Amino acid sequence: MGIGRSIKRKLIRFYPDLARLPKRRLANSDLSPELTRETEIVHDMSRFPANDLYRQFLIDTAKDMPKPHHYFEIYEQWFSRFRNRVDLKLLEIGVARGGSLKMWRQYFHDKATIVGLDIDPGCKAYENADENIFIEIGDQTDTSFLEHVAEKFGPFDIILDDGGHTTAQQTISFNHLYANGLNDPGVYLVEDLQTNYWPEFQDADQSFIDFAKSLVDRLHEFYIKNRSIHSFQKGRPEQRRSMKVSRFCADTRSISFYDSIIVFEKRRKSVPVLERG
Ligand SMILES: C[S@@+](CC[C@H](N)C(=O)[O-])C[C@H]1O[C@@H](n2cnc3c(N)ncnc32)[C@H](O)[C@@H]1O
Repeated sequence: MGIGRSIKRKLIRFYPDLARLPKRRLANSDLSPELTRETEIVHDMSRFPANDLYRQFLIDTAKDMPKPHHYFEIYEQWFSRFRNRVDLKLLEIGVARGGSLKMWRQYFHDKATIVGLDIDPGCKAYENADENIFIEIGDQTDTSFLEHVAEKFGPFDIILDDGGHTTAQQTISFNHLYANGLNDPGVYLVEDLQTNYWPEFQDADQSFIDFAKSLVDRLHEFYIKNRSIHSFQKGRPEQRRSMKVSRFCADTRSISFYDSIIVFEKRRKSVPVLERG
């Protein structure tokens, strides 16, 4: 028996669910030998810009909650557009010791509403209504609780999932909140997705990353349902002026994959048009 299989047998003793999960392999059959060849990378701090969020993290959050350096560049990329919005509403799933909520408080406008949601009743201690920080206690997989939070404070411009990190939790919260709790335009960010590769966090048949990969096809639903270029060509009699697609396709402009983070950009699309110059 290979060493890999003996480790897996031991893991299954502790995590019986692992037995039914598909083996994770790097699917690289179409990747050229040039691109699959191993290369060494090193930890290089100069690659991560010291932006405002990172500075704030070092002051307020780092002692309470470790975060990978590369997250700060991604936060800045997606959140800076909301920075000065007085009416911004942000929801974070997972409060712990309130570290990231303090960081958002410092980063966004004073009047922006910051809401944290956590299953641990002790997190209520981090509520500070004077600073527009509110905490709701409940389970991120309880859709009636999520509905209550969205009704009370939403719809949100930013939703960030840094909660329990199991694949089922990530998927259930996304399905509910993306449809019912997120503004258009809005940003839904799921972090710490490295956990999808670790058995203790796998409690569904499909990882969140696999789920998100399948949604890339949903982004292209127009072309799956209309299999001719003429359906999109301006001026053609066959050109489609309207189409029925899923709400996800209609409402999603982009899905961005990073190391351990996926960002969904919600923004209503219109029927695509091809135009010749
Ligand atoms: C990684 S910590 C959050 C850290 C925080 N966002 C920060 O950066 O400072 C994860 C939190 O998720 C909470 N959590 C775990 N399972 C949950 C669930 N099912 N619903 C809601 N919160 C949950 C835990 O109680 C814990 O406080």
